[in-house]
Amino acid sequence: MSNPSLLILPGDGIGPEVMAEVRKVITWYGDKRDLAFDVSEDLVGGAAYDVHGTPLHDDTMARAQEVDAVLLGAVGGPKYDDLDFSIKPERGLLRLRKEMDLFSNLRPAQCFDALADFSSLKKDVVAGLDMMIVRELTSGVYFGEPRGIFKEGNERVGINTQRYTESEIDRVARSAFELARRRGNKVCSMEKANVMESGVLWREIVQKVHDEDYQDVELTHMYADAGLMQIVRWPKQFDVIVTDNLFGDLLSDAAAMLTGSLGMLPSASLGLPMDNGRPKALYEPVHGSAPDIAGQGMANPIACILSFAMALRYSFDQGDEAERLEQAVEKVLADGLRTADLLGEEGVTPVSTNEMGNAIVAALDASL
Ligand code: IPM
Ligand code: MG
Repeated sequence: MSNPSLLILPGDGIGPEVMAEVRKVITWYGDKRDLAFDVSEDLVGGAAYDVHGTPLHDDTMARAQEVDAVLLGAVGGPKYDDLDFSIKPERGLLRLRKEMDLFSNLRPAQCFDALADFSSLKKDVVAGLDMMIVRELTSGVYFGEPRGIFKEGNERVGINTQRYTESEIDRVARSAFELARRRGNKVCSMEKANVMESGVLWREIVQKVHDEDYQDVELTHMYADAGLMQIVRWPKQFDVIVTDNLFGDLLSDAAAMLTGSLGMLPSASLGLPMDNGRPKALYEPVHGSAPDIAGQGMANPIACILSFAMALRYSFDQGDEAERLEQAVEKVLADGLRTADLLGEEGVTPVSTNEMGNAIVAALDASL
């Protein structure tokens, strides 16, 4: 049997630096755990634009459709700010999401004990936090038609459309319930059914999916505004939150901040199963390309490394190995190693991107 295939798209800014550390981890799994991957690499974002004049070449898109999982670093940078909307680096990422039909975006907000002091909230509110936002990623107001800026009488009107079909809600709800069964067995669905028809339908379909197929999972509903209030009040009440594309974008940034650093958080974007049973999948850190610190060895590679841990769990059915990697990360943090984004406490050891990657590989070695 051939090895599972990975397409690596380092992208822009700190993307290539953090991805270099992920590569060490991937190599370690091949050498030490008999888990070899066929790794190929390509361009995305500004890096692709510089070479091809487009943020995602058709050949790269085609390769992404064929591999078992895509691992992406980050896209964007000030150099590309003035480009037309249609060829900005971010469009490369949105095209991957849409064409791979990655409708279920998993964004964990997990607080590492060693970093609980970094949160803007009190330590007891966030210590031990482990929640997961499931954000619908391929529909809603991000993609609904009509959209645009139109002339209406003697002024202009900007229009976007919130739109959800029953089947779009059904499939993302199912992915949230399935996930909850592997975690704390609770789902909270968030919308604005008090003001939006799409929210009324959302609530109805989520409830229906639950009653038909997931009665063993506890389901609650909240209006998204009240839900965000609850996320900052007492986040540990949540296990899995399922919500639409725009609310998920907002809720996940707020939830990420609870954990102290954006440099820590991974994400998975999953689609329908391929012929081999694996879901179409793209894994990426939640953080951006951070052009201000690129090329200085300051970036935190942990979010990208934990994104690979999510790939082990969700694409390759290697939950134990994912845990091994997550524990290696916890170990180096407990040992006091900190990249530049996490400095500030007394008694910690500042390390570079490269040193952090090496320390995590050493912790993996020690786990054997
Ligand atoms: C995210 C980002 C993207 C989004 C941008 C970069 C298009 O904010 O992944 O959360 O809005 O989805
Ligand atoms: Mg966002």
